[in-house]
Amino acid sequence: MSASDASSADILPKLTLALSKGRILEETMPLLKSAGIELLEDPASSRKLIFETTHPQVEVLILRASDVPTYVEHGAADFGVAGLDVLMEHGLGDVFELIDLKIACCRLMTAGVKDQPLPNRRLRVATKYVNLARAYFAERGQQVDLIKLYGSMELAPLVGLGDLIVDVVDTGNTLRANGLEPLETLHHISSRLIANKTSYKRKYQLLKPILAAIEQSLIDRAA
Ligand code: ATP
Ligand code: PRP
Repeated sequence: MSASDASSADILPKLTLALSKGRILEETMPLLKSAGIELLEDPASSRKLIFETTHPQVEVLILRASDVPTYVEHGAADFGVAGLDVLMEHGLGDVFELIDLKIACCRLMTAGVKDQPLPNRRLRVATKYVNLARAYFAERGQQVDLIKLYGSMELAPLVGLGDLIVDVVDTGNTLRANGLEPLETLHHISSRLIANKTSYKRKYQLLKPILAAIEQSLIDRAA
């Protein structure tokens, strides 16, 4: 195949966007649509992990939510959407945080068994946010033992795996359904558009209209 056979879409520089299935994908899609970006296939019904879009220069990667900062930091994705909880737990240093999308809003909280006083000893805290939990208790001068989990944190105190959990809370329904109660708020959380630092500089002309459309859409939404 000669170079002249290649379609113009093949030779244009690409922007790779990292998203996670579920609420981030669902809540990001309307914002992307305002920038002329729609997925050509539905990730919910596909096993594919790379998706083309209606924008010839934008493709979407579907990842675990907690892997988005890693892909963007290493430049495997040019930009991505991640919760502030995930970003702070990962460490914010190596990516640009471009826009607060004000989606997937929740709070990172401590929670414990309802009406059950905490034991008078060093507490055990079960969480997937070990770095944020460590920083929070250290700031309060409280020594705790951290137990790393990857999900279903609400189960831990019910079966004696920890006195407290640190997890995200929105409606509080999951805590209530499991006989737990919210205690202290560590951070207010929303999802952020982040970019690889090199991609941001090199691909700025491509990114600029997309960022402008998303920002306009957020302004319209707030009005
Ligand atoms: P992983 O698959 O990496 O474990 P996850 O299951 O936490 O990630 P999601 O449940 O899709 O992924 O959550 C993505 C982001 O949405 C979280 O990082 C958080 O910022 C936010 N979030 C989580 N739960 C809620 C909720 N109940 N309501 C609103 N926002 C939420
Ligand atoms: C998240 C989080 C809590 C729940 C809180 O779980 O881990 O369990 O939401 O939301 P609520 O306060 O509105 O009940 P999610 O629904 O994302 O399921 P997951 O465990 O698969 O992440």
